[in-house]
Amino acid sequence: MAELEGLEYGKSDFILLDEVTMEHFMENLKLRFEKGRIYTFIGEVVVSVNPYRQLDIYGKEAVEAYRGRELYENPPHLFAMADAAYKAMKMRAKDTCIVISGESGAGKTEASKYIMQYIAAITNPNQRAEVESVKNVLLKSNCVLEAFGNAKTNRNDNSSRFGKYMDINFNFNGDPTGGHINNYLLEKSRVVQQQEGERNFHSFYQLLRGGSQELIKSLFLEKNPALYVYTSEGAASITSNDDHSSHKAVLNALKVIGFTPNEIDSIYKILGTILHLGNLEFTSEGENVQVSAKEAAEHIAVLTSTKAADVSKALLFRTVATGGGEVINKGHSVQEASYGKDAFVKALYERLFSWIVSHINTVIEVKDYNPMLHGKNTVIGVLDIYGFEIFDNNSFEQFCINYCNEKLQQLFIELIMQQEQEEYNREGIPWQQIEYCNNQIIVDLVEEPHKGIISILEEACLGVGKVTDTMFLESMDSKLSQHPHYTSRKLCPTDKSMEYRRDFRIRHYAGDVTYSVEGILDKNKDPLFQDFKRLMYNSTDPVLRDMWPEGRLSITEVTKRPLTAATLFKNSIISLVDNLACKVPYYVRCIKPNEMKSPMLFDDARCQHQVAYLGLLENVRVRRAGFAYRQPYDRFLQRYKMTCEYTWPNHLMESDKEAVEAIVRQHGFSESVEYGHSKLFVRTPRSLFTLEQERNALIPILVLFLQKVWRGALARMRCRKLWAVYAIMGCYKRYKVKAHFWEVSRRFSNVRNMADYGWSVEWPAPPAALAQFHSITQGLYRRWWARQIVKNIPPSDMLEVRAKVAALAALKGERPTWGWGRAWERDYLSLANDSPQSCTSFVEMTKELKKKDQYNTVLFSGFVRKVNRFNKSTDRALLITDKNIYKLDPRKQFRVMKKLPLESVTGLSVTSGADQMVVLHTSTQDDVLVYLQRGQLCPNQDRVGELLGNLSDHFTRVMCKPLSVSVRSSALQLNMRGKSKNVTVETKPGQANADFRKNRNGFTLLVPAS
Ligand SMILES: Nc1ncnc2c1ncn2[C@@H]1O[C@H](COP(=O)(O)OP(=O)(O)O)[C@@H](O)[C@H]1O
Ligand SMILES: [Mg+2]
Repeated sequence: MAELEGLEYGKSDFILLDEVTMEHFMENLKLRFEKGRIYTFIGEVVVSVNPYRQLDIYGKEAVEAYRGRELYENPPHLFAMADAAYKAMKMRAKDTCIVISGESGAGKTEASKYIMQYIAAITNPNQRAEVESVKNVLLKSNCVLEAFGNAKTNRNDNSSRFGKYMDINFNFNGDPTGGHINNYLLEKSRVVQQQEGERNFHSFYQLLRGGSQELIKSLFLEKNPALYVYTSEGAASITSNDDHSSHKAVLNALKVIGFTPNEIDSIYKILGTILHLGNLEFTSEGENVQVSAKEAAEHIAVLTSTKAADVSKALLFRTVATGGGEVINKGHSVQEASYGKDAFVKALYERLFSWIVSHINTVIEVKDYNPMLHGKNTVIGVLDIYGFEIFDNNSFEQFCINYCNEKLQQLFIELIMQQEQEEYNREGIPWQQIEYCNNQIIVDLVEEPHKGIISILEEACLGVGKVTDTMFLESMDSKLSQHPHYTSRKLCPTDKSMEYRRDFRIRHYAGDVTYSVEGILDKNKDPLFQDFKRLMYNSTDPVLRDMWPEGRLSITEVTKRPLTAATLFKNSIISLVDNLACKVPYYVRCIKPNEMKSPMLFDDARCQHQVAYLGLLENVRVRRAGFAYRQPYDRFLQRYKMTCEYTWPNHLMESDKEAVEAIVRQHGFSESVEYGHSKLFVRTPRSLFTLEQERNALIPILVLFLQKVWRGALARMRCRKLWAVYAIMGCYKRYKVKAHFWEVSRRFSNVRNMADYGWSVEWPAPPAALAQFHSITQGLYRRWWARQIVKNIPPSDMLEVRAKVAALAALKGERPTWGWGRAWERDYLSLANDSPQSCTSFVEMTKELKKKDQYNTVLFSGFVRKVNRFNKSTDRALLITDKNIYKLDPRKQFRVMKKLPLESVTGLSVTSGADQMVVLHTSTQDDVLVYLQRGQLCPNQDRVGELLGNLSDHFTRVMCKPLSVSVRSSALQLNMRGKSKNVTVETKPGQANADFRKNRNGFTLLVPAS
C-alpha cells in the first residue's frame, strides 16, 4: 500500500476540513497545489487542479499502487477513482460513467487520457490479442481525434473543439471488448476563421509541416502554413506540440485503427481541398462573377475527383427549381459566392470529422456479442466535453457550449445534491436540508419548449419572410424580460457593457456571459447550397461520396426542412444526459489555477470563483453529513449474510432489516449507520470495507463447502452406479456358474450308459471362479470312472490288476518298459508253455515245499542269472512265495540252495532301462542281485515290472508294510555280506546272453546288442 500523505500536504479529502467554509476550502486547495498535490477528494469526487507541468505520478508504480485498492488507502488520484469506477462495473455489474468537467484548459482532456491509460493498464492480464487490439484502437483514437478536433486557443494550446463521450464495453471478465464514441458540436467555424492569436485545427499545420514532399506535391500545396488564408493566422504562433512529429503519430494511428491507404489519401485530399478553397477568391466583371485563379479550381477538381467545370459551376451558380418544375441556374454575387464557399468548407470539414469518428466506431464496435454466452456486457463511459467559455466576443458556439455545461451541472446537482437529500427524506433518515444553487432555472431558460431561447431561435429561423438577428433579440427581450437570469441593453439601459440591438446576457451558474446575436440565425440555420452536396456525391472518390448521401436527391425533390443546429445540439445533449443519468457517476472536477498556463501561480480569485460555481463547498457539506454507501436491505443481506451466524445461510428474523441490524451489531459499527425504510445507510467507506474483507475471507470457505457438498453428491452418484455394476456383474457371474453346471450336467448325463463311461466327453471350460471346483469335479469323475472300470474286472483278474497298479505306482513313470500290456502269469516255472522241459519236476518239488514251508501262494517264479559272493555268476531258479524267497538249482531238480524269509526284504532296485536286472534289498545287508531270464512265453518282454508289482502289492495289501522301490538311471547300489557294490549296465556286441562280470566297484551287466 502506498504511503498516505502527511498533514503538511493538507487534507486529502475536503470532508476532513475542520470547518466547511470557503476560506478553509481555498486554503487547503492552495496548500496542496503548491506542494504539488493536484488531486483532492470530496468523498468519491476528485477535485483536480491543472499543474501546467509534467508530474511523475502516472507511471507503472502508480498504476500498481492504485490497482484494486479502496479510495482511502492511497493519496487522492485519478487512478483511485478510475479503479473505483472499474470495480463498480466489474464486481457489481453496474454501468458507470466518469464525468469530467471544468473550464477550457482546466485539464479535462488530459484527465480523460490518464483514466483511459489506467483502464488499459489494469485490464487484459492474459494479453489476449483481440482485447489488446481493442485497447490499442481506443488509445490511438485519441491521437486522431485530437489532430482533427483540437486547436490552439488563447486559453489552451490543445483545446478540444468538440465534445466527446466515449463508452468502453467490457465483457464478463472485465476486459474491454469494444467501444463507441459520440462527438458533439465541432466548432467548424474555426476552419474559415480564427480569433487573433489562435490557430485552425491541428490537422492543417500537421499536414503542412509534417507531410512528406510527395504528399504535399500531390495535393498541389507547399510546406508553409503562412501561404494559406485558413492557416496564416496561426502560422506564427508557437505551440507546445510539434506538428511535424504529430503528423507521423497521426498517420501511424490511422493505420493502426484500420484506415486503408486510399481512405487516408482521401482524408488528406479533403484537407488540401479546403486549403485551396480558402485561397480562392471571386472577382466580378460587371454582372459576371469569376473565380480568381482557374488553376485552383482545377486542383480542387483533381483532389475531389470531380470535373473542374462542375467545381466552378457549383461555386458560381446555384440551381433553382421554378414553380413549374423547371430548373434554372442562377449566378451568385461575389458576396453570395464567398458565403457559399465558407459554408461548403465548414461542411466539408465537419463531415470529414464525423466520418472519421464513425469509421473508428465501426472498428471498435462490439462484434458477435451474445449475452447468453459472454455474460453481462457492462460499460464505462468517459465524458470529456468543452468547458464553460467566456470570450470577449461570445456567439452561437459559446451559447451551445455553456448550455451544455449548465446541463451537466444540473445532472451533478441532481445526482449528488438533490437525489441524495431526497433519498434521506424518503427513507426517513434524520437530515438537515443543505441549500445549494440549483441551476435548473437557467437550463429551462435555454431549453424550455416554446419559451426557451432555443425555441425562440428556432422560430426565428423557420419564420417566413426575412427575419434578422435583431428581430430575434427583440423577440427574446419581449418574451424573457421577466426572467431573473436574462437581460439585455434594452432591459437594462444603464449597463454599458452591452451593446444596443446586438447583445444579450445570461446569468450562468458559472458567471455572466454576454452573447452577440450577430450572425446567430445564420449559424443556427447553417445553410448549404444543394449544388455542393450534389457535386460531392457525384465524386468518383467513394469516401467523399459516402460523406454526402443527400447529394443523391435531385433538385426538384422537396425535402423536409432539417432541424436547426441549436435544436439538434439540444437533442443530443438531452440524450447524453439521459444516458449518463442511468449510470453510476464518478466526477472529476477540474480547476484552472491561472490564465497564464503557469505551474507556479494560484490565482485565488479565479480559483475561488470556480470552486463556487462548481458547487464544491455544498458538495462537501452534503457529503460530510451524508452517507457514503446505501444498499437495500435484501441486497445488503445477500452480499454480507455469510459474515454473521444469525444470517447464514438464511435468517429466521421477522424482516431483512432486523437481519441487517444483526450483522451491523456483530461488527460493531452501529454508530456509523442509519436504518432507512428500505435501505441501510453507511457513513464511511471504511465500515463497508471491513465487511468486504471479511466476506472475501469467507468466500473461499463457502466455495469449499459448496464443492464438498457437490463432490459428495457426485461421489454418491458414482457409488450408486458402481453398485449397479456390481449387481449386474454378480448376476452375470451366477449365470455363468449355473450355465457351467447345466452344461456339465448336460454333457455327462448319459455317461453311465456310454461304452467308455464318458471318457471321450469333452469338459466345458469353466469360468475362473470355478477353476478349483472344476479340477475337483474332474477328479471325482475320474474316480467314478475308474470305479466303473474296476467294477467290471472279474475276481480272477483282480490280483493281476492290483499288481499292475502297484507297479505303476511304484515306478512313478520312471521306467518306460514294465510289461503292463501282457498277462502276468506269476509262476512261470510251473507253466508248460514257458518252461516245457522243467515244469514237471518244478511242480513236483513245490508240492513238497508248500507242505513243508506252508506257503499259500507263489508271487513269482522264473529262471535267473545270479552272482554269488565269490563273484561267480550261475544260473538259478527264483521262487518267491508269500513266506520266503528261494534260490533253487535247476540242474538238481530245483533243490533249494538258499531260503530267505520274505519278511527280511526291505526294498527293491531296478534300472530305468529295458534290462531285466533286479536287486532285492534285505535287512541282513546281504542283497540278492539277479537277472531275470525269460522262458518261451513271450521271451522278449519285460518281467521286472511283474516281479516288482506282485511283491509291492503283496507287501502293502497283505503284509501291510511298504516296500521301497528305487529306479536308477545309472548304477544300482547293493550290499553283499555287508560290502557295498555297484552294478552298471553295458551293451556289448557279440554277447550271446546277458551276464555279470566283476569289475572294480562291483559288477557290470553285459547285455547283447539287440
Ligand atoms: N495532469 C496534468 N499534468 C500536466 N499537465 C497538464 C495536466 N492537465 C492539464 N495539463 C496541461 O494543461 C493543458 C490543457 O489541458 P486540457 O486537458 O487540454 O484542458 P481541457 O481539456 O480542460 O480544455 C494541457 O495541454 C497540459 O499542458
Ligand atoms: Mg479538452
